[in-house]
Amino acid sequence: MRHLTTVFDVSSEEVLTIFKIVGELKTRLRAGERPELLKQRVLTQIFDKPSLRTRLSFETAMIHLGGQASFFSMKDAGLYGRESLPDVARVASSFSDAIVLRTFSHSTVDEFVQWSRCPIINGLSDDFHPCQALTDLFTVQEVFGELKGQHIVFVGDGNNVATSLLHLCAKLDIRLTLACPVGYEIPDNQVTAVRKRHPQVKFEQTQEVRDAVKQADVVYTDVWISMGQEAEAETRKRHFTGFQVNSELLALAPSHARFMHDLPAKRGMEVTDDVMDGKQSVVFQQAENRMHVAKGILVWLLDAMK
Ligand code: CP
Ligand code: NVA
Repeated sequence: MRHLTTVFDVSSEEVLTIFKIVGELKTRLRAGERPELLKQRVLTQIFDKPSLRTRLSFETAMIHLGGQASFFSMKDAGLYGRESLPDVARVASSFSDAIVLRTFSHSTVDEFVQWSRCPIINGLSDDFHPCQALTDLFTVQEVFGELKGQHIVFVGDGNNVATSLLHLCAKLDIRLTLACPVGYEIPDNQVTAVRKRHPQVKFEQTQEVRDAVKQADVVYTDVWISMGQEAEAETRKRHFTGFQVNSELLALAPSHARFMHDLPAKRGMEVTDDVMDGKQSVVFQQAENRMHVAKGILVWLLDAMK
């Protein structure tokens, strides 16, 4: 049984297999086909944080593919005192073909894996967002026609989204630069783990955001205040001044560069309206791809491709 708790759970070949499934199912959907690859399969989603894209993409993916999805908050599922996590994990997984979790601590995902009888998918934890990273690089491949040689410049916080993107860029040999204020780099233990697994990784961290975007094929940003960091809002806003992706910053990038954001965006904070809605933005293509990639992940994990 396989899980997707971090990008480290899949090999580069498996990522390319998932991308192939995604591409095929996306084309088939456009042609009006909704093959019932997951007929009568059941997905359970248990979330501890809000979500639009992740929840809806997995729910829609299941419906398109002939299965069903149910959703619980962690509290309604019985965590936070009604019963123990191992008991919830054993019961929920005995009814489900797969479980998507959205948690604060990543250790909750790992603990579920320990007790689960079905594959566990991490739909975002404080540390990682593997489904987003897979979507991001699938989108880069779709937009540019190939992944090879692309350079992603992530402007902002070295958070869960940036960390999973680093894992996947290292795996697929894509260059990644993080431009961030001092103290907001990707955690050292993650950078060390990546360098150990992928000694050839093309990764730099810098505070020189204007220089960094000059060589970008993709300028990517995410919120400055992630879910759970609300108490740090004012400090973070102060520290991230100068790291907004606005039209002036994007104009420094080559004209072929594209803008990406995992969403939700705080318009006027980390990104301006003109960039979000501008010609270089592919954010809504990227958001739509969450659903196509959810299908690829489910079909691959459940070995359901015909
Ligand atoms: N990008 C993303 O995970 O969006 P949601 O938080 O809406 O699921
Ligand atoms: N870094 C953000 C991503 C939201 C999809 C957060 O964790 O809130």
